[in-house]
Amino acid sequence: MNNTITREKAIELLMKYNKEPFHILHGLTVSGVMTWFAKELGYGDEADYWSTVGLLHDIDFGMYPREHCVKAQELLREANISEEMIYSICSHGYGICVDMPPIHEMEKILFATDELTGLIGAAVRLRPSKSAMDLEISSLKKKFKDKKFAAGCSRDIIKQGAEMLGWSLDELFEKTILGMRACEESVNKTMKELNL
Ligand SMILES: [Fe+2]
Repeated sequence: MNNTITREKAIELLMKYNKEPFHILHGLTVSGVMTWFAKELGYGDEADYWSTVGLLHDIDFGMYPREHCVKAQELLREANISEEMIYSICSHGYGICVDMPPIHEMEKILFATDELTGLIGAAVRLRPSKSAMDLEISSLKKKFKDKKFAAGCSRDIIKQGAEMLGWSLDELFEKTILGMRACEESVNKTMKELNL
């Protein structure tokens, strides 16, 4: 797996097509969580690749939400991103907007954690601490069951992602919370550095 773009350039590219701070925060969070999973699952050598895939996964969502994961392929090709990485990025729209099934474990992690990090992020914003550090799995499970809470975060996709990985939902929740905790400080720092 060959990462052909630096982190700085990938952030620049993300910001070229996404003006809302929320989208940048989401990209940075998924990138941080992907980095944590790469190390956790024994893919430490490929952590940069996992991180970039996380950063760029929603590149087209801000400006082209109706062409999600389709327009992305065009934007990423223009930016000379490899076909391998384009597949990795766009496979998270499998069954929703593209017919590109997640194959590699990294692609399954992206599929499973994209919506879940959104759900955890929404839960974190409600906490007095505004932090994932004191978010317990039991609290996340309640939020998951409450269909009205962060209704835009698809529970079906999260369940489907856990199945793809062969993990229980609890296992996916627990690991993703740990990933969110691990990257929280650096994500907040980058948001400050970007004046967002
Ligand atoms: Fe996303």
